[in-house]
Amino acid sequence: MNVLVTGGAGYIGSVTVATLLERGHSVVVLDDLSTGHRGAVPEGVPFVHGSVADPDMVGYALAEHRVEAVVHFAAKSLVGESMSKPTKYFLANTASTFALLDSAAAHGVGRFVLSSTAAVYGTPARVPIPETAELRPESVYGESKLMIERALKWLADTTGLASAALRYFNAAGATASLGEDHRPESHLIPIVLQVAAGKREQAQVFGTDYDTPDGSAVRDYVHVSDLAEAHALALEAMRPGEARAYNLGSGSGYSVREVIDVCRAVTGHAIPTAEAPRRAGDPPRLVADSSLARSELGWKPRFDDLGTLVASAWEWHSAHPHGYAD
Ligand SMILES: NC(=O)c1ccc[n+]([C@@H]2O[C@H](COP(=O)([O-])OP(=O)(O)OC[C@H]3O[C@@H](n4cnc5c(N)ncnc54)[C@H](O)[C@@H]3O)[C@@H](O)[C@H]2O)c1
Repeated sequence: MNVLVTGGAGYIGSVTVATLLERGHSVVVLDDLSTGHRGAVPEGVPFVHGSVADPDMVGYALAEHRVEAVVHFAAKSLVGESMSKPTKYFLANTASTFALLDSAAAHGVGRFVLSSTAAVYGTPARVPIPETAELRPESVYGESKLMIERALKWLADTTGLASAALRYFNAAGATASLGEDHRPESHLIPIVLQVAAGKREQAQVFGTDYDTPDGSAVRDYVHVSDLAEAHALALEAMRPGEARAYNLGSGSGYSVREVIDVCRAVTGHAIPTAEAPRRAGDPPRLVADSSLARSELGWKPRFDDLGTLVASAWEWHSAHPHGYAD
């Protein structure tokens, strides 16, 4: 398939580009490099430097590369910022995606994969969370993605677009050549590893009074290679007129303190911590029930051990101490 990957210079997008290539697909990347890195896109992969909000640029990429499917990662994804700058998020995530979908329809693109998020659930009534759980985002970020999911259902009914909304839990880990380099970094594991590497003084534990075994918040960490694999499977399995949604997580929950302990064991560094108040909108536990992706897509995550996942991230950070600036 000829696939346009928006945000393919970003963390999850770049690993997915590599996976799609391995599976024999042709890929073109569209990225504005606002948070991504040109060096994360392999040499030889056509790269269009532009925004998904620019119909001329998108139209050029779709026509030039006879694109049949779009895998859409490009987005803003800082939950806190989405609450202080809501219109920025509705524009960057929702409106831009509607513009992208309009261009895709005009160019006869029949398949679409959306990077969605566990944030569409808000605080779940129970964990693990199945796809049938109530959708009650507690942030503009979550709502900005849910609005796209709802539009995809309408497009399936009205135009026959085949789509899959992939609701990631916490992406983590690295491949030998591709890793996580967000600036500023907002994700727990790379932040803790920055402490281990001596680049930060301490790791903050936000919330120590949750109703969890050690009081810190519990999250589900899924390896970025496993996420990438799911995109390829979803793309290949989707059918016209169907808008599917799948949770992607490991199914195991680890508390913030447990993650820090694993990072200590993997790196051999002490990793000082500081306790901080809960952050608004941070639910106590988010753990995925991903059985639908396993049964319908045949998805078999290969990394189910947090130590292996953290070790892959540590190897990448150790080999690339300045991230993609090296
Ligand atoms: N990282 C996670 O744990 C996680 C969890 C749930 C959902 N997601 C979603 O997955 C997607 C990818 O996340 P990531 O962690 O790889 O983020 P990232 O910031 O590394 O990647 C996003 C990429 O999109 C590009 N981009 C942003 N706006 C653009 C635009 N208007 N036009 C073209 N390119 C644009 C950026 O330059 C970057 O390369 C996002 O949609 C995010 O909301 C991520």
